[in-house]
Amino acid sequence: MNNSKINISKRLNECLSTQIFDLLIKCGEFTERNSASLFLVGGCLRDILLNKRPKDIDLTLVNGDSNLVQNLSEYLGGKIIFKSQFFTYKLKVNNNIIDITEARKEVYSSPGSLPKITSKCSIDDDLYRRDFTINSMALSLNPASLGNIIDPFNGINDINNKNIRIIHDNSFSDDPTRILRAIRYSIRLNFNIDNQTLSKINEFKSNINSITGFRIKNELIKILREDSRSKILLYLDTLKILDIIQPNINLNTKINEIFDNFQFKDEYIDDLILIGILTYNLNIQNIIYFAEKLYLDSIFIKTLRDTNEIKQLLQNVKLDKLKNSSIYKQLYKYKYEAIIINRYFSNENVCQKIDLYLNKLKDTIPPLNGKEIIALGAKPGPIIKEIMDYLLHEKLDGNIKNKDQAKIKATQILNK
Ligand code: CTP
Repeated sequence: MNNSKINISKRLNECLSTQIFDLLIKCGEFTERNSASLFLVGGCLRDILLNKRPKDIDLTLVNGDSNLVQNLSEYLGGKIIFKSQFFTYKLKVNNNIIDITEARKEVYSSPGSLPKITSKCSIDDDLYRRDFTINSMALSLNPASLGNIIDPFNGINDINNKNIRIIHDNSFSDDPTRILRAIRYSIRLNFNIDNQTLSKINEFKSNINSITGFRIKNELIKILREDSRSKILLYLDTLKILDIIQPNINLNTKINEIFDNFQFKDEYIDDLILIGILTYNLNIQNIIYFAEKLYLDSIFIKTLRDTNEIKQLLQNVKLDKLKNSSIYKQLYKYKYEAIIINRYFSNENVCQKIDLYLNKLKDTIPPLNGKEIIALGAKPGPIIKEIMDYLLHEKLDGNIKNKDQAKIKATQILNK
């Protein structure tokens, strides 16, 4: 094992806030006093070695258990906000989140299945279960060895040489989602996929279909959340992997342009929109196939169905030539995200009408409510809703400006 000692305290100071840095030191001290060891691991350490601020703080605990994690959180004045049966814990201390996992071994009974997990193993075993050399390093937080980096697969060398490399030949057959991860990291970090790793990608890419749709969906969403989503998708396309996930996805210039300009903000809403953009050119049969294969939930499915219906509608109806009430009637039953997805593919005039609908028409309320219509002499029943809709449409078109005008119109209908 190559156990390189690198003084990275400067890096840690640069990449972590003082608060997090102090917290990690306290965690290491507490763990050592309790005869256990704590390491900074995975993407968090990779990012620090790349001089980037890590997104998450991931720690691995060796020789400790849930009691120790519980005691640690109390010692830090925080609490465990999530705990899974797979020996993972999420701690919240002040406003900082720390993920702790007990060192674990994973055994894959068949390719692509979820691994059987056992805890109580060494940090070396824990690193051996991981995907790429650059993600399979650990930095000691124990005071006695603070800053020591355990780098059994020469990850530092691969970081320096900008290389994505699997740590053993079964990595992709164990877990084909790693094929998608390799491509995502290679574009995000601007690293090369090493030749042997690339040939293993080609050997095992069809295994992507052996993993659950739920896991494919998670990886696809991670790709779509990246700034360089269009480059990652193009690379997947070049390697004929996109076709394995879903045939006929057509990454044309328009879709790439939309993806390049997309500013990701909201996790759920933007996931819906990005999936809708990706599948925009599929026909409805392929969309349903895609949704079922990836176990998309009912909100995703409704969004994709609506997107496809609006797309057909916009091909047949000139939205920019319609009066307000007609625009409302065409769009009111569709999900907001489905309208937004279509907006990306629309010309300026149609965009203006879509904006008018979303910013104004959509939230307009009828000028009279049911009680007010009954007070004018209407009998309770379906007629009330019909009058309310009629009045709403008249209001949208500017033919009704206040309650008095609405009452006159309603009375005219009731007297017919
Ligand atoms: N990991 C793995 N195989 C997977 C998923 C994860 O070996 N299929 C390991 C890697 O060591 C990874 C760590 O678990 O670094 C944490 O996973 P995750 O949070 O998904 O990745 P990060 O490396 O933190 O990447 P990102 O920057 O995209 O969050």
